[in-house]
Amino acid sequence: MASDETPGRSKPTVSVVVPTYQESTNIPILFDRIKYALKAEPWELIVVDDDSPDGTSSVAFALAAEDRRIRCLRRVNRTGLAGAVIEGWMSSSADFVAVIDGDLQHDESILPKMYEALAKGSGNLAIGTRLRDGDLGGSLSPARQALSDMGAWFFRRIAGAPVADPMSGFFMIRREIVSRLAPRLSPDGFKILVDVILSAGGGLKIVEVPYVFRKRNSGESKLTPLVGMDFLGLVVHHASGGLLPIRFVLFASIGAVGLLVHIVALSAVLHWFRMLGFEAGQLIATILAMASNFILNNEITYRPYRYSGPSLVAGFVAFALGCSVGVLANINVASWLYTADETWWVAGLAGALLSVVWNYAVSTNLIWRRRHR
Ligand code: GDD
Ligand code: MN
Repeated sequence: MASDETPGRSKPTVSVVVPTYQESTNIPILFDRIKYALKAEPWELIVVDDDSPDGTSSVAFALAAEDRRIRCLRRVNRTGLAGAVIEGWMSSSADFVAVIDGDLQHDESILPKMYEALAKGSGNLAIGTRLRDGDLGGSLSPARQALSDMGAWFFRRIAGAPVADPMSGFFMIRREIVSRLAPRLSPDGFKILVDVILSAGGGLKIVEVPYVFRKRNSGESKLTPLVGMDFLGLVVHHASGGLLPIRFVLFASIGAVGLLVHIVALSAVLHWFRMLGFEAGQLIATILAMASNFILNNEITYRPYRYSGPSLVAGFVAFALGCSVGVLANINVASWLYTADETWWVAGLAGALLSVVWNYAVSTNLIWRRRHR
């Protein structure tokens, strides 16, 4: 063995997990900066990459061949920021685990401060809080800032925790806590911190370490303001005692929007194009509602698996076919219940519920199952 270290000695004290998708140019820089920031304690950087086509995992593996402080998990046919972070944490044996973005937007130089706060017991969760005044660097658009502020305010109300920046994607926590919470955390969202705090249900001692949020170094953001919706999904998920998955909440809300689209479209046809007749109106309204459901689910609910460009057409056709079965089931169940002497609205509601569950199952398991490149 060429190693000069004692075999079996010294596990890292801190594991810093970095979820990555298309960050090949940023990872070597991040690793260098963390080496500089975290001199004292034994630490490791765990890159959890969702098989990025730009070869992020190859870059990380090459670094790992030279330096054991970095390792990489290449996940295949899977995607999702939160899930990647959770899996990285689950592979750690350190006392503390952290998460940091791979695009250098987070200031790694505050990692020692986070560590100190946890090590000396001032807290068991240290959050990197983005400074809002001074030079935020204009890295958040006004619209995104407003949305983020609203979400944060709402979060403080429901969580009862005075956290300035719950949407932060940069924090450190005692591993034993996430280890206990892990089975209850949602792999589908982006707001992993919100999930951790809500899952812990109080009892966390939170410390905040302010830093200046930077502009993304290279590559592009995978998140849009629409992704803020996953925050609402998380909130309802927790309110339902963990019963409803985030994605189901989003899917059902978008279904409600689709219903609205349907009614508006139908009444518009009946009003302005009466000569087309009710059946044609119903058909047009159905297609528009399906299109709205498809587009919104594609952008929000299943964003990591999103169809784009020419594949959009194939995706929409598959979705429409899948949903038609849901519509038939809806009509059949509703009429069966109705003839079995149920009240009209109970029958209607049962039918609608059945089709939402059906469409959700089809969408999750068949339509948006893998990344479309
Ligand atoms: N493994 C994996 N899988 N990593 C991903 C995925 C994915 O599906 N999607 C994004 N990432 C990685 C990116 O490569 C980056 O390292 C990090 O997750 C954050 O993604 P960005 O695309 O840079 O997100 P952002 O800058 O728009 O959002 C950040 O700020 C939000 C608050 O405004 C993130 O920190 C969010 O977590 C945070 O909520
Ligand atoms: Mn970013």
